[in-house]
Amino acid sequence: MKKISFKLAFISTALLTLSHTLWAGDITQGKTKAAACAGCHGLNGIGLSEEFPNLAGQKQAYIIKQLTAFKNGSRKDPTMNAMAATLSNDDIADLAAYFSSLKISTAQASVADKSRTGKASPREFPENVYISMKKSATIETFPQQQSWPGGPNMLYTAITPNKKMLLSTSPSSNTVYIFNTQNGRQLAILKTGKAPKGVKVSPDGKQAYISNQGSADITVINLKTLRVSHTIKTKKGPHNVRFTKDGKLAYVTLQGGDGLGVIDTQKQKLIRVIPVPGITGPHNLDLSADEQTAFVRDFVHHVAVVDLITGKVNKIITVGNGHGGIDVFPNGQYAATAAIGDDYISVIDTQTLESRDIKVGSASHGIRASKNSQWLYVTLPKKNEIAVINTSTMAVEARVPSGEFPFWIALPGNP
Ligand code: HEC
Repeated sequence: MKKISFKLAFISTALLTLSHTLWAGDITQGKTKAAACAGCHGLNGIGLSEEFPNLAGQKQAYIIKQLTAFKNGSRKDPTMNAMAATLSNDDIADLAAYFSSLKISTAQASVADKSRTGKASPREFPENVYISMKKSATIETFPQQQSWPGGPNMLYTAITPNKKMLLSTSPSSNTVYIFNTQNGRQLAILKTGKAPKGVKVSPDGKQAYISNQGSADITVINLKTLRVSHTIKTKKGPHNVRFTKDGKLAYVTLQGGDGLGVIDTQKQKLIRVIPVPGITGPHNLDLSADEQTAFVRDFVHHVAVVDLITGKVNKIITVGNGHGGIDVFPNGQYAATAAIGDDYISVIDTQTLESRDIKVGSASHGIRASKNSQWLYVTLPKKNEIAVINTSTMAVEARVPSGEFPFWIALPGNP
C-alpha cells in the first residue's frame, strides 16, 4: 500500500510538472503580445476602466481556461470572443504567463501610476523640451538630457519661435540669460528690473517680455540686438505674460492683487486691468484656443475662468494647493495646472469647465503640453523628476530624473 501511494504521488507530481510545462508560456513573448490587450486591460494588467477586469497576478491556468472558453465560444462576450478568436494556443500560454507574472502589489501601486522611471525617450519627447533647474542653476534638454550651465536660480524660461534661442530669468541676480539652443552657450546676460519672473517671446520672435515682480514693470528685450529696448510700467507684482497670436496684446498676471493687465504691444503700455475677484494673487495664465477666455492660476488653489470680451469671471475652479504653472493644450481641449503644495495636477475641460485630478505623486510646478498635444510634461521639483503624461489615457507614462528643482518648461509650438 505504502509503495503504491508513493508511486501515485510521484506520478501525479510528474503529471503536474508535465501539464505545467504544457502551459508554460514565454513571459517576454507574452509581454509583446499583450500590447493588443493594453487598450482595455492595461499593459500592467490593470483594467483601464470599470468594465475591464484586472489580469495582473491572475492564476495562469485560469487565464488559459478563460481565453480558451472565449475562443471556443463557451464563455460569451462579444469583445473577448473576437479577441480570443485570433489567438493560437501558444499565444494564450504566453499571455497567461505574462499577466500572471505581474505582481499584484506592483500592479496595485500602478493603478495610479503605471509609469516607468528612466531615461527620456524620443517617443515621449518628439520635439526638444527645455527645462530650467532652479537649484542646479542649469537648463536641461530632453530627450538628450544635456545640461547647460546658467545663472543662480534659473526660473522661468521661454524659447523663440525659430527655436534658436532660449531665455531664462534669474530673479536673485535680476538678470535674464539668453542661450544659443544649438550648443547651450550663453549669448547674453541682461539686466532686468527687480525679481524677474515670467518670460515670454512675442509670436514674431522679435521681442521678449520679462515680468519684474519686484519693480512692477516689464523689461522688453530686442531679440535682434540682444539689448533691453523698453520698460513698461504695470501694477503691483507682474508675474507672467501671455501674448495673443497676432502679437497685438499681452495679458499680464498682477500677483499684487489687481487682476489681469492688458498691454497694447504697439503702444508698449498697460491699457486696462480686468479685476479677477475670487482668487488670491493671479500667478500664471494661458488663453483658450479662440483667445476669448483666460485661465488664471492663483497662488493658493484656484483657477479663474475669465471672459476677455465681457471682463467677467465665468467660474472659479478649485485645484491643487499652492502655486504652479497652467497650460492650455495647443489643440485647445484642456487647461492643465500644477500644484506645488499637493501630489496631483488638475486637468480642466475647456468646454465643460469640469476638472479632474491626476496623481503625479509629488509637488509639481512647471506644466506644458507638446505641440501635438499628445504629451503633457510636469516638473516635480521635490522629486527632481519630470513626469510625462500620455494625454490619450491621462496616465503618467514615464518619469525622467532631472537636475535639482526642475521649475519651468519651454518647448516649441506652445508658448
Ligand atoms: C476592447 C477591450 C478588450 C480588449 C482589447 C481585450 N479584452 Fe479581455 N476582456 C474585455 C472585457 C470587457 C472582459 C470581460 C468580459 C466579460 O464580462 O465576460 C474581458 C475579459 C477577459 C478575461 C477574463 C477575465 C476574468 O477575470 O474572467 C481575460 C483572461 C482577458 N479578457 C484577456 C484578454 C487578453 C489576453 C487580451 C489581449 C489579447 C484581451 N483580453 C483584450 C475587454 C477586452
